[in-house]
Amino acid sequence: MQKVLILNHGGQYDQLIARRVRECHVFCEVRPASEMDADKIRSFQPIGIILSGDPLEGTAIDPRIFELGIPVLGIGKACTAMAALLGGSVAPSKQAYGRTLTNLSENAVLFAGFPPVTISWMDHDRQITALPPDFVATARTADCPIAAFSCPERSLYGMQFHPEAAHTEGGTQILKRFLKDVCGANEEWQMENVISWAISDIRHRVGSRRVLLALSGGVDSSVAAALLSRAVGSQLTCIFVDHGMLRKDEGDQVEAFFSRMDLHFVRVNASERFLARLDGITDPGEKRRIVGEEFVRVFEEEAKKVGAVDFLAQGTIYPDILENGQGYADVIKSHREIGSLPDHIDFKELIEPLRLLFKDEVRQLGRTMGLPEFLVGRQPFPGPGLAIRIIGNITPEKISILRDADHIFASELEKAHMHDHIGQYFAVLTDTELRRSGKDTHAEYCLALRAVTTDDFSTAKWARLPYELLDRLSSLIIKEVPGISRVVYDITSKPPATIEWE
Ligand code: XMP
Repeated sequence: MQKVLILNHGGQYDQLIARRVRECHVFCEVRPASEMDADKIRSFQPIGIILSGDPLEGTAIDPRIFELGIPVLGIGKACTAMAALLGGSVAPSKQAYGRTLTNLSENAVLFAGFPPVTISWMDHDRQITALPPDFVATARTADCPIAAFSCPERSLYGMQFHPEAAHTEGGTQILKRFLKDVCGANEEWQMENVISWAISDIRHRVGSRRVLLALSGGVDSSVAAALLSRAVGSQLTCIFVDHGMLRKDEGDQVEAFFSRMDLHFVRVNASERFLARLDGITDPGEKRRIVGEEFVRVFEEEAKKVGAVDFLAQGTIYPDILENGQGYADVIKSHREIGSLPDHIDFKELIEPLRLLFKDEVRQLGRTMGLPEFLVGRQPFPGPGLAIRIIGNITPEKISILRDADHIFASELEKAHMHDHIGQYFAVLTDTELRRSGKDTHAEYCLALRAVTTDDFSTAKWARLPYELLDRLSSLIIKEVPGISRVVYDITSKPPATIEWE
């Protein structure tokens, strides 16, 4: 399979570039520049190299990569560093550059025929003051005469702006030209192909041996299960631990779907065990720890019944790998009870069939395999489930109240066709007890509704739901869910708040 190498010299643009390259139907991998010298790059055999990040702050560019005969594209700060390294001049700059990009030459492969377009941010710290020998400027803005340059004879290209950014008009088109016209990419990264590659890869590794998967019903583990089932059928056992804090009907839906597939499906109804351990626990950290610990115990017990397996499968996805050990993904993962499973299960090898896929690709792959929307279109649901959406002490009665209210919220958003635009939405049962107007006794709970729009869950804006919808939700929930006497809508963004309440 053809592949492009994204060489990251520090900075945070590598993943976005990679996603755009994949959108152009070209496979790519991100590697830290510190781990890839020119020899390693040659044996990686990429059809093209994209330099990202800031080589002057992070790892420097290995100049030998320009001699490999492989096309290179430097983006943003990597572009100015590339110009300096190839013999051009670069000077510090404090100027805020204009945002309109004009193509300078009809022969410039990447920009030919482009009208002036609006671009996203540029590297403002430095500017290219003289081109390297044999290079030509291919695009400029009003005040930046060398916003892009190239030496087509050597297949070397640079652009000081970011074609991967959503605000750069035609940015993906520019990348596509580099991939197709310069690197000769043949757009083979299509989901049908990805499925066949993944299946033959799994069959090759697994042979006639057995695989065990912890199925949560979330997107990643569901798609991993479907892929493994296609590849090795009944050699796969999926254990689905129902901890009793799933959303309304969720456990039954997961069971109904997976028990029809070609695999061994085991559902463990363990809600009583979980509830007993959570009794009286109000601290969110404790709740997470207990659910995680109990999950591993239950899974371990069930796995023993299945007997020794050769492979433990996990739904690890590419961002988990790229962000491993740093930043936000790690924080999220530390909540994830499944992360600690490998320490407790008897297996020989780990198999992660989605490890090179981005989240949107996992969803596409699931859809292409015919998985229903309730599995692939799902928003993230925390491992501890409703346990961290019930503030304070957890009781079966509170779980039931929250489930019903949450279900009404979700159904109404779906009916109003709002759910596709909202990153995450759910109800939270607060521990504030209130009287109903006109009644002196029997306090009922205050329910909070939370809906946010977000790109990556590290920041989020509260969703501007229409007043009419909020009004309907409030009336419906109070009318149909005994135990709730007040409904509030959370209008806090992240930061400062988190998405979940606990
Ligand atoms: P916060 O609340 O930190 O949430 O803004 C960010 C994203 O992470 C999810 N989340 C969790 N996921 N176990 C999980 O598997 C957890 O304990 C957990 N806490 C938060 C949250 O739903 C949101 O998508």
